[in-house]
This record gives sequence, structure tokens and C-alpha cells, in this order.
Amino acid sequence: MKEKILKKLKSDTTSFFSGEELSEKLGVSRTAVWKSINQLKELGYVIESQTKKGYRLIASPDTLTPIEIDFLLNTEVIGRQVIYYDSIDSTNNQAKRLAEGDFKDGTVVIAEEQTSGRGRCGKDWISPKGKGIWMSIILKPHISPSDAAKITILAACAVCEGIEAVCNIETKIKWPNDIIVNGKKICGILTELGAEMDSVNYLVVGIGINARAEAADFPEEIKETATSIRLETGQVIPRKQIAAQVLNAFDRLYKNFAVDGSIQNIIEIYKSKSAVLGKEIRVISKSGESMGKACDITEEGHLVICRPDGSKTEVISGEVSVRGMHGYI
Ligand code: BTN
Repeated sequence: MKEKILKKLKSDTTSFFSGEELSEKLGVSRTAVWKSINQLKELGYVIESQTKKGYRLIASPDTLTPIEIDFLLNTEVIGRQVIYYDSIDSTNNQAKRLAEGDFKDGTVVIAEEQTSGRGRCGKDWISPKGKGIWMSIILKPHISPSDAAKITILAACAVCEGIEAVCNIETKIKWPNDIIVNGKKICGILTELGAEMDSVNYLVVGIGINARAEAADFPEEIKETATSIRLETGQVIPRKQIAAQVLNAFDRLYKNFAVDGSIQNIIEIYKSKSAVLGKEIRVISKSGESMGKACDITEEGHLVICRPDGSKTEVISGEVSVRGMHGYI
């Protein structure tokens, strides 16, 4: 009930809605309306109540609830269903559990806090309550497993576009999928796959954006390399706006990919955002260490490393360090 009342109040924040009008339109008693208004106030909504006039919404809290996000979405597939948790082990874990069921392509799982957030290469992803955007998108595209890894390229572009749409900062991508601002990591992406030999059952794209985190929120070992939107802009930008813009961008970019696994239209955007192209780099991957100049990114999303002797190596995945003044960082 409180969701319906909130929707009504949000539909016009300049006018008052009387208790009588709300109870008639929603087919509930005036006491039920009053109770819902109090519940909304407890959730952080600021609602002005005036005798004879009724209720008016003054401000909404910075939560990532479906109703808050839905108002800002203009998507066809992504986020048509948003599943929200105040606290969860990991949105990727939960998205995988749900994807095994019949949850649709584009379902988003989002949480205020993750108690066992996961990063790439088995690392932890620190996800304190209300400090970031911890979300996972369930995808069910008609593609072959060999095209699945390309979704990370798409996701990285969507995150850059979404962040830049609402925050006045320039984002870069450190191949394959770290989003960097002023040389520090602001977002990580963890893609997981559920597949048979020849078909994809589902993909889960986990996106972790450090939004409101302050320096003290980062553990000692990543303090030098991690940052947040708050630290970079000096502002607290509502997380729902950032999340919604990332999902809007994802939806636009996903249309072609969902049909045939192609990222042809995306790879140029990805390259233009690259923080490694043209730089001397070192890549540590399963097959060992490669050094040289990052000279291209293929349509598959692979990184091409060129060496002075003219030889080239194509790397599918790995951890990149860029050569700077103080060695590789
Ligand atoms: C990385 O190591 O850079 C990837 C980090 C991915 C973190 C996100 S937060 C939402 C989703 N749930 C997780 O447990 N991990 C991803």
C-alpha cells in the first residue's frame, strides 16, 4: 500500500493530496492511508501534512528501492524488475540463484550492503551499507558461450556513460573492466556465466560503484588505489540517479548484443575510454606475464600487446599494470 501512496505523491510534488482523495483513489480506509504515510516517514521520506489540505512529498531518501529507481528508468529490458535487499551476501550470488529460476532477462538485484561481496580473482569486494551501488544484472541473451565475455566490455561502457551523465568527472577504463577516475579505481565489474557447452543459460553482470565512500571506508591495502564519486567530486550525488543512468545506458547498448553477441558498435567507445591503449604495460594472466605496448583492443575485447621486435600477443583476460614514473602500477 505504501508503494501506491508514494507513487501518487511522487506524481505531483507541488500539490497536496488529501487523505480522502488518496483513500478513494486507492480503495482503502483513511486510517490505512495515515498508517502508510507514517511508514514512509520512518523510511526517510519527508512528507508535509496540513490539516484540510492533506499530504505533499518534500524529499525522498537516497535509497535504491525499486520505486526510487523505476522513476528514473527509461529502459525496455534492463531493470523492468528490480529486486532490492537491505543486506545480502553478494548480489552476484543472489542473482545466480534467481537466474536458475525463471527470472527474466534484465532483472536487476540491488543491495544497500553486501556481507560477502566478491571481486575478480577471488578477492573480496568491500561493500558497506549505503556507501555504494552494489548491483547485478541477470541477462539471458541468445548468444554462444564464446561471446559471453564481451558483455564486460559493454558493461564498462555503460558504467562510464552512466557516471558521466550525472557526475562532473571523466571516467577511463583499465582493461578489461576497472573504471578509473584520476588514476584510481571507482568501480569494478564481475561477470559470471551459467552455460551448457553450446548455449548460455544466463549471464550475471555484477557492478560495484564506490559512490559515497570516504577514505576511511577503504581497507588499508587499497587506500592508495581506490576512490569514490564523493571523493572525486566533493559532492554526495544520489546513488539512485547514478544507478538508473548506468542501467539506461546498459539497456541502449544491450539491444544488439542480446540478438547476436555483437559489440561492433561498442568497441570504438570502449577504445576511446581506454586508460591503457598506447601505454607500456605488464599483464599477468593465467598463461604467465606479458610486457609491451598496449596497441589495440579487438572486436572480441581482447588486448593486443606489441613489442619492439614486431611480435604481438593477444590476451583474453588478466591483471594490467601500467608503467609510470615509479615502475608498473
Ligand atoms: C572487481 O574485482 O573489480 C570486480 C568487483 C565487482 C563487485 C560487484 S558489487 C556487486 C556484485 N556483487 C558482488 O559480489 N560483486 C559484484
